[in-house]
Amino acid sequence: MKTVDEFFGGVPFVAARAPGRVNLLGEHTDYNDGFMLPVATAQSTLVRLAAAPGPESVYYSATLDEEVAFEAAAELPTGFARYIGGCVSMLEEGGARVPPLRVYVESNLPAGAGLSSSAALEVATLRALRRLLAIELDDVTLALLAQQAEVRYAGVNCGVMDQMASSLANETSMLFLDARTLATRLLPLPPDSEIVVVDSGVPRLLAASKYNERRAECEQAAHLLGVASLRDVGAVADVEALPAPLRQRARHVVSENARVLAAAEGVDAARFGALMNASHYSLRDDYEVSIGALDELTELLRAQPGVFGARLTGAGFGGACVALCRRGAGFTAGSAVVARYNANTGGAARLLIPAAASAATLESENA
Ligand code: GLA
Repeated sequence: MKTVDEFFGGVPFVAARAPGRVNLLGEHTDYNDGFMLPVATAQSTLVRLAAAPGPESVYYSATLDEEVAFEAAAELPTGFARYIGGCVSMLEEGGARVPPLRVYVESNLPAGAGLSSSAALEVATLRALRRLLAIELDDVTLALLAQQAEVRYAGVNCGVMDQMASSLANETSMLFLDARTLATRLLPLPPDSEIVVVDSGVPRLLAASKYNERRAECEQAAHLLGVASLRDVGAVADVEALPAPLRQRARHVVSENARVLAAAEGVDAARFGALMNASHYSLRDDYEVSIGALDELTELLRAQPGVFGARLTGAGFGGACVALCRRGAGFTAGSAVVARYNANTGGAARLLIPAAASAATLESENA
């Protein structure tokens, strides 16, 4: 692995960091103009960059120990470098002049676990470029550029949630986000609660194709209902006349938006947990994006002392689940579930939040 000093050789650089996200409620609602409640992860991605001395750009990931070098006119690189190149291209399309760059990336966000490591890389890159080039760019516009980089250059037809969360959320509040107006509001977590995140260890196979299929089903449902998007459907009863599976897909989106709005009114942890459970069952039964591992992990989490509710988080088809639990109980509950699940199934689940270090701090504070 190259150190920062070896890579930059004493040339001054700018640095910027961005977190991943865990969505607490409001899944598959963003591309339906709906509502969601993500929080930022403690884990983050740090991007350092400087103008390169010559025509060659060099992007280095210390996490992967992988280096990509290319000249400006060449095709965009692949792998981690593509997200960075996509952000550069987005700025250039907007009229910015970006010189060839030397970029050094470091991250403790697990990739492929459903915590939006790609959004974190995009947002950190754009923050660093904003500083390097002294561009005026507010955090919402920056998030939209990051999302467009993902859609156009990484080929994932995602909504706005991940990049908005990485750009605007923090670890201690929920970011209430309206995907239609892009209005945001930071809300406190329910009193005396904290979150637990467990990675199922199951890679999100088929996620992209199934994701696009769900998007298309939602558009079709909205079209049949004569509304611009499913956000505009007032009540769950209004979708009952749709043919299957559009009825089920629309029912999930309409009921999920209602759950987010209920939670955003400021409910206690028990009520919030019940809304999370209902969200999981809706994602499992109506939206059909869960898998056995996520069903089982969320069941095990619900059975732990101090856990109020649990659901899959992110797109589904693998990745992670999130639970809300009594403050201070998360590390014990999450560790117990991971141990039990791996012993029962031979799986590779792991506790992502609380991270062991912060749990240790919490324990010593409680001692
Ligand atoms: C992925 C997408 C988001 C969102 C979620 C599902 O994370 O990137 O835009 O659609 O799935 O809620």
